[in-house]
Amino acid sequence: MHPELTTEATGLTIRWPDGVTGTYPYIWLRDTDPAGFHPQTGERAFDLTSVPLDIMAEDVAVSGGGLVLRWPGADRPSRFDLEWIRANRPGQRRADAADIPPVPWRAEIAAEGIPRADAQAVLTDDAALADWLAVTKRYGLAIVTGLPDDPEAGVAVARRVGHLRETNFGTTFEVVSKPDPNNLAYTADALPLHTDLTNQDLPPGYQFLHCLANEAAGGGSTFCDGAAVAEDLRLRDPAALDLLVRVQVPFRFHDADTDIRARKPVIRTDADGRVTEVCFNAHLADILDLPAEEMTGFYRAYRVFMQMTRDPAYGIALKLSGGEMVVFDNRRVMHGRQAFDPATGFRRLRGCYVDRGEWDSRIRVLAR
Ligand code: OGA
Ligand code: ZN
Repeated sequence: MHPELTTEATGLTIRWPDGVTGTYPYIWLRDTDPAGFHPQTGERAFDLTSVPLDIMAEDVAVSGGGLVLRWPGADRPSRFDLEWIRANRPGQRRADAADIPPVPWRAEIAAEGIPRADAQAVLTDDAALADWLAVTKRYGLAIVTGLPDDPEAGVAVARRVGHLRETNFGTTFEVVSKPDPNNLAYTADALPLHTDLTNQDLPPGYQFLHCLANEAAGGGSTFCDGAAVAEDLRLRDPAALDLLVRVQVPFRFHDADTDIRARKPVIRTDADGRVTEVCFNAHLADILDLPAEEMTGFYRAYRVFMQMTRDPAYGIALKLSGGEMVVFDNRRVMHGRQAFDPATGFRRLRGCYVDRGEWDSRIRVLAR
């Protein structure tokens, strides 16, 4: 049965026999005409300014399974597939295989609950890769097992996902205690829970830390789901959440070669108020430069959040072994490290990053 069309001055309403109704402004229909996209690249080739904003169709009809619209002065009509126009009605998000809602987790998940995947499977089997990308996005954290004792092995898994994100620490980096460190990670000290490179305009997305050796006493890894902490903060102390979303914190990293700074809130939310990003690194927070009258209020909120990250209700701990790699969304899941004693054994991790956009692209391409 055909859908029912109703035309108005500004657009068209389509009502399908099952009651689904779409309202389509004419300017949208003109701009979205499939013929206005490049046949090879799929990019929009149509020039929006070539038609008036108040364009109206001269004639609208359903014919041969398609919606056909004639435009004044145009030499050919626009033709839309009816199924497509129904699925893409305004107000409806385009279907996206990478639209995987996060599952917040707390201490109960425990180290045993972290999703695990075998490196060989992820490297060689597209279905295993797709499953692993989805579950890692859902939890923001996963462990890849069975990596060979090769400093490039973890990097190869990262490259299977997408392009590496290069930073001032290189395309890849070695986490070992060094004699002249430019970063606390390169000492044997404990690292409290943090996200990396909050001083960057865009902090890196997924972080890969391949454990090559972890023989020293200590050196366990800690994690907490920053999104879970932030969502709980919303219930516990909405005023604190509001400040952490609104106040721009200055972050800074500087060494002999660089001085990289960015201002950003500790927590970001989307238009629906859901937490989309946590950006928390006490070591990279620069001198707070808020007006004096806002300072103490912000410190209160910031300390509440900081204390929550240390609450045993949220954190999990595990000690990585050689051949294991943690992979986590650095813009959501906070990571840390227990201190270790370099006199008792060698500890070496090799790290790299792949941004969220690359991750999501791989999910979509595998879902085609
Ligand atoms: C880092 C880091 C954790 C570790 O390099 O940013 O947090 O386990 N390292 O050494
Ligand atoms: Zn770190």
